[in-house]
Amino acid sequence: MSKITSRLLNWYQENKRTLPWRDHPDPYAVWVSEIMLQQTRVDTIIGYFQRWMEKFPSIEDLAAADEQDVLNLWEGLGYYSRARNLHKAAKLLLAEYGAQLPEDTKTLMKLPGIGRYTAAAVSSMAFGHDAAALDGNIRRVYARVFNVEEPLGTKDAENILWALAEDILPKGEAGDYNQALMDLGSAICTPRSPSCEKCPIKQDCEAYQLDIQEMRPVRKTKKAVPHHIHAGAVIVDEGKVLLAQRPQKGLLGGMWEFPNGRVEENPVKELASLIWEGYQVKIKVGNPIGEIDHAYTHFKVTEHVFLCELIQLSQKENLRWANLKELDDYPMGKIDREIAKRLQTSALSN
Ligand code: ADE
Repeated sequence: MSKITSRLLNWYQENKRTLPWRDHPDPYAVWVSEIMLQQTRVDTIIGYFQRWMEKFPSIEDLAAADEQDVLNLWEGLGYYSRARNLHKAAKLLLAEYGAQLPEDTKTLMKLPGIGRYTAAAVSSMAFGHDAAALDGNIRRVYARVFNVEEPLGTKDAENILWALAEDILPKGEAGDYNQALMDLGSAICTPRSPSCEKCPIKQDCEAYQLDIQEMRPVRKTKKAVPHHIHAGAVIVDEGKVLLAQRPQKGLLGGMWEFPNGRVEENPVKELASLIWEGYQVKIKVGNPIGEIDHAYTHFKVTEHVFLCELIQLSQKENLRWANLKELDDYPMGKIDREIAKRLQTSALSN
């Protein structure tokens, strides 16, 4: 075992965080936690993880669940295809794998939503297999320790980092070792102002020795993020508001929204025709309710929201009328939940 790995494993024994899926690793719990932790911080997911395990304590329970309940529990975590993939994978596990997670990375990667990192994390942490894992934190740690100069995300950097990770992996200890790197990356080897003086492997770290730790990893130059303007309609009729279900595929698939569309120039002028074209609903646009901003991964949206009157509904597919209280039962993205909250608050104060 190299000095780096033994120092990291010792540090982990002393400093590891107490997390609900550690110590007695139930493979299902490890899998759920790993999916929740993709792009999301540990502190954010703890409550979600506990609610999830209460509601769906096993693969069988998840496979039998209603998709709307699954999405409701996920609401606020973002990247909703993760929840849909967990649900799909649970059904597949029940149908074809005796409701058990496979142990090896190759078979794990056949399941929806499980890529190379997650397969390695589950295989090493839940089953003790020798699988090297690379997530964002671990990439940063290795880019510093081994002074990787290729920009992160390029093919060359990926090849170098995976080769390093596999090379250094301590056999028989991969689960703890992978988690040691994750904890080091989130507590000490942070993206900005890393706490190098506290680091158990600073003497092994090439970037620290050269005092260039803040210049590693090298970043690719970022493209400008597009900013879309949307207009949204709160269509009211007989004390209820109209919701539309988004298509199953794509962004926020299967979730509910207030009818809206992308504006070319002028939200108030274009709203009625956007709603007619998008939903075959005729409306009369009324007073503005507000503007809501949200940043997705690859673009930003500002939605201008208006109170609208229903003129005519010429189809009902994927549309539902809900009173303000019932809005809580429909899984929604951040923008639509904000609209729902504003409606509920203003109704209370009236
Ligand atoms: N990030 C992803 N998986 C993790 C784990 N098991 N422990 C800490 N951070 C993580």
